[in-house]
Amino acid sequence: MAILPILQYPDERLHKVAKKVERVDDSIRKLVRDMAETMYAAPGIGLAATQVDKHIQLIVLDVSETHNDLKVFINPELQASKGIEEHEEGCLSVPGIYEKVSRAERVTVHALDEHGKPFTLEADGLLAVCIQHEMDHLRGKVFVEYLSHLKQTRIRAKLKKHRREIL
Ligand code: NI
Repeated sequence: MAILPILQYPDERLHKVAKKVERVDDSIRKLVRDMAETMYAAPGIGLAATQVDKHIQLIVLDVSETHNDLKVFINPELQASKGIEEHEEGCLSVPGIYEKVSRAERVTVHALDEHGKPFTLEADGLLAVCIQHEMDHLRGKVFVEYLSHLKQTRIRAKLKKHRREIL
């Protein structure tokens, strides 16, 4: 296993649109393990392949408090969504920034697991938020893009300053 570097906003590669996984094979399962290790080490509750510069439709997440409930979504498709709820979100690609975003309260998602087996999951609460946040990454969207332009400009400036300070 390996910890992968996570792309940091505003890296242009975060805006690439991920391609479908054609075949769920050992190379995909290796990436799943590396992404899970990277997510747990960060620590974070979700990671999309886009964030580790792999532009395929693959997400790992674990919203459990015990960090032992890894969920893998390959080629996820949103089949239904219901309601609207606002949650504060953060992102491993936008460190230190937490902002409220409105999303569907409940979603039904269809995907393949790491063995290529299809499944359907109905989610609400934090899990629903996380699924929608990670699926956005696959289409090249970072959560801060839901915010006003003024806020986005401030966030970019803050991250740039922070990066200069640690360099
Ligand atoms: Ni994110």
